[in-house]
Amino acid sequence: MSTALQMPNDLDPYWMPFTANRHFKANPKLFVEAEGMYYKTQDNRQVLDATAGLWCCNAGHRRRRIVEAVQKQVETLDYAPSFQLGHPLAFEFAAKLTAMIDGYDQVFFTNSGSESVDTALKIALAYQRAIGQGTRTRLIGRERGYHGVGFGGISVGGIVNNRKTFGPLLSGTDHLPHTHSLEHNAFTRGQPEWGAHLADDLERLVALHDASTIAAVIVEPLAGSTGVLVPPQGYLKRLREICDRHGILLIFDEVITGFGRLGASFATEYFGVKPDLFTTAKGITNGVIPMGAVFARKGIYDAFMDAPDGSIELFHGYTYSGHPLAAAAGLATLEVYREDDLFQRAAGLSPYFEDALHSLADHPHVIDVRNLGMVGGVELAPISGKPTARAMEAFQKCFDRGLLIRTTGDIIAVSPPLIIENREIDFIVDTLGDVLKTVH
Ligand SMILES: Cc1ncc(COP(=O)(O)O)c(C=O)c1O
Repeated sequence: MSTALQMPNDLDPYWMPFTANRHFKANPKLFVEAEGMYYKTQDNRQVLDATAGLWCCNAGHRRRRIVEAVQKQVETLDYAPSFQLGHPLAFEFAAKLTAMIDGYDQVFFTNSGSESVDTALKIALAYQRAIGQGTRTRLIGRERGYHGVGFGGISVGGIVNNRKTFGPLLSGTDHLPHTHSLEHNAFTRGQPEWGAHLADDLERLVALHDASTIAAVIVEPLAGSTGVLVPPQGYLKRLREICDRHGILLIFDEVITGFGRLGASFATEYFGVKPDLFTTAKGITNGVIPMGAVFARKGIYDAFMDAPDGSIELFHGYTYSGHPLAAAAGLATLEVYREDDLFQRAAGLSPYFEDALHSLADHPHVIDVRNLGMVGGVELAPISGKPTARAMEAFQKCFDRGLLIRTTGDIIAVSPPLIIENREIDFIVDTLGDVLKTVH
């Protein structure tokens, strides 16, 4: 197919998400194919995907097994209603997911990370009510947290631009301080030593609001979208202890960390801290079909089962919860992860990845390099008066050289598919290193 045919005539009707629309439409970047670690652009260039799409294609692109599973499913059962009816694959997938981790007996299916977050917040509120703690309605998030774009998610989230234009949001939320400190933790490899005490701020919020008003705390175990904030050693454990002390549910948002990103199935396993609920999406289907799932620890679901016989226990769900194509994609994705032993592979790759990223420490403009598992962040000093401009220039220059990175503010995030080879890690770091020498 010629390039001209692949380029749409009119870019205007599509209002693009989280995009500088006018800039993009003047300088479009379109992907037309993908395979393994690489995208192909509309002008027939190969681009190495150092971000696993949007943190979702953990097994790389166009995996045959997943493609064929979806093809077969769409020929068999394209859709089945999910309210008061079902289809076998959704049950099979739920069983496979809960078998991945001890202590979580149910999953609730959604279609995205944002929906998983809103679902987890709603389950937390309804659970507190079901166990006779109905005064617990407050939800605590964290500064710089990203929990998607639903009203629940932006209310507990802490990214100013995602909140400031959308009115007063949910009432009754509050926020813990974020854990990022260049002063104490710059250039840390893995989890920083400084910062566990920041969890103690939850005690301050308990003293301020009273525990009897607080339903749940939600945090990303490793914050990705805000620019790769690795939790300080002991921080998550301390949050768990404070929540336990006060009857507050702990929710981990594992939309990025789930499915191998840290070299374990989930961050809860990696950190050895068990939340009451955790959200997933993205890697659950390798990004192929939209899906999410909220995992509930043993006992949460049971608390709802006292409702009168025949009545609906939780008034929540989506037309596409457990969609047959998503369930088929998800089941095949889990097989690919297992066959390729991808979570172990990520754990094995991460020391090389860490060394490679930290070799950028002495490059121009770099004020921090941080990493955990197969996630890395390189923070650049902003150009005075022009925040984000330097990172955007780096993004463009990397793209021109065949490398896809992601930027948030002046932070570059790297989170490649877990099938990456060492020579491709070298390509990422060499390209980024060269680009950093040329940016303003
Ligand atoms: C931690 C976290 N939660 C929620 C979301 C939202 O996911 P989605 O864009 O699928 O709604 C994201 C997306 O990056 C995320 O990183």
